[in-house]
Amino acid sequence: MSTQSLFTPFTLKTLNLKNRIVMAPMTRAFSPDGIPTDKVAAYYQKRAEGEVGLILSEGTVINRPSSSYDKNVPNFHGEQALNGWQNVIAGVHKAGGQMGPQIWHMGIMDNHHSGWLPPTPFEGPSGLNRPGFNNGNTMTQKDIDDTIAAFGQAAADAQRLGFDCIEIHGAHGYLIDQFFWEGTNERTDIYGGKTLAERTRFGVEVVKEIRRRVGNDFAIIIRVSQFKPSHYDYKLAKTPQEMETWLTPLADAGVDIFHCSQRRFWEPEFEGSDLNFAGWGKKLTGKATITVGSVGLTGDFFGAFAGESSQPSSLDELTRRLDRGDFDLVAVGRPILADPNWVKKIKAGQTDALKGFSKEALGELILE
Ligand SMILES: Cc1cc2nc3c(=O)[nH]c(=O)nc-3n(C[C@H](O)[C@H](O)[C@H](O)COP(=O)(O)O)c2cc1C
Repeated sequence: MSTQSLFTPFTLKTLNLKNRIVMAPMTRAFSPDGIPTDKVAAYYQKRAEGEVGLILSEGTVINRPSSSYDKNVPNFHGEQALNGWQNVIAGVHKAGGQMGPQIWHMGIMDNHHSGWLPPTPFEGPSGLNRPGFNNGNTMTQKDIDDTIAAFGQAAADAQRLGFDCIEIHGAHGYLIDQFFWEGTNERTDIYGGKTLAERTRFGVEVVKEIRRRVGNDFAIIIRVSQFKPSHYDYKLAKTPQEMETWLTPLADAGVDIFHCSQRRFWEPEFEGSDLNFAGWGKKLTGKATITVGSVGLTGDFFGAFAGESSQPSSLDELTRRLDRGDFDLVAVGRPILADPNWVKKIKAGQTDALKGFSKEALGELILE
């Protein structure tokens, strides 16, 4: 089957993408003391030279004392880190690419294996990282207000540095998702509640503040997931109706694109339809969506963390869904981490030249 539809342009506000392929955000922890190095800039520039349509950065943390659990994860605050990011976007633009940072607050975490700890305890809606595991503070109203302001500042800085969009990390069990999930949000104030719609309030306020800071024309993406790393098969929204009460307020607050994270893009989200998460996201909100999850690979990314290798796989099912209009963009993680020229190879039909993925690829920033 042809991959031609992957190579049609996409335009939305500040985005003018040459194709539909997005580099998925992937934490690399190669930024000592939170400062992206020249090698980090070269790593992203190589992906732009390799014709990735839109690059999303690894998660990069906002200006809160405990937004990170790893001192080698890049900051998106402070002069030195922002200079590092300026260098990154300059390289990507020089190569004709477009890029947005994935702005992140990790919320309540397990302690990092290195023993490094942030200067203040982790913070989250109820101190919980997962049901029964408390490892930090319950946020006060002031903590919440300051965190929302810090998200807004990071987005404004991204725009000022010349990035083409921003992505809010609202997925995978981190801070914003800790508010969404009843398993980690036991609050009894306006940020908690029995319904997913009530627990979406914090996320909505983050989006509104970012929209206020960046204006109407700057593209805002939010990444959301049903699963939690501690509960792989969890469904935050159990029905399409419940999903609508989650995503619609975020859309109304100013989200342009929903990045619907799942482990395997071909898996239906609800019984009775083959639509995946991104398919439902688009149908329910009318907004553009990005799909993701084992595109072009046989195994999923949790398997990769556990040391499993994956082989290249066909893109037929992906293009069938794209051609049907289920989603607008396709994020690809591990294949682009391992090979800066993955997109070029797909475009040229060089399937024999595609590599698989093994855990060793995580050990360095691959430039060739
Ligand atoms: C090394 C690595 C780091 C990741 N870090 C992030 C991250 O910082 N933010 C995020 O939203 N997802 C992160 N993910 C998930 C990816 O964005 C993506 O959703 C996942 O790898 C599935 O895509 P793939 O099957 O094409 O690799 C990471 C994945 C990998 C492999």
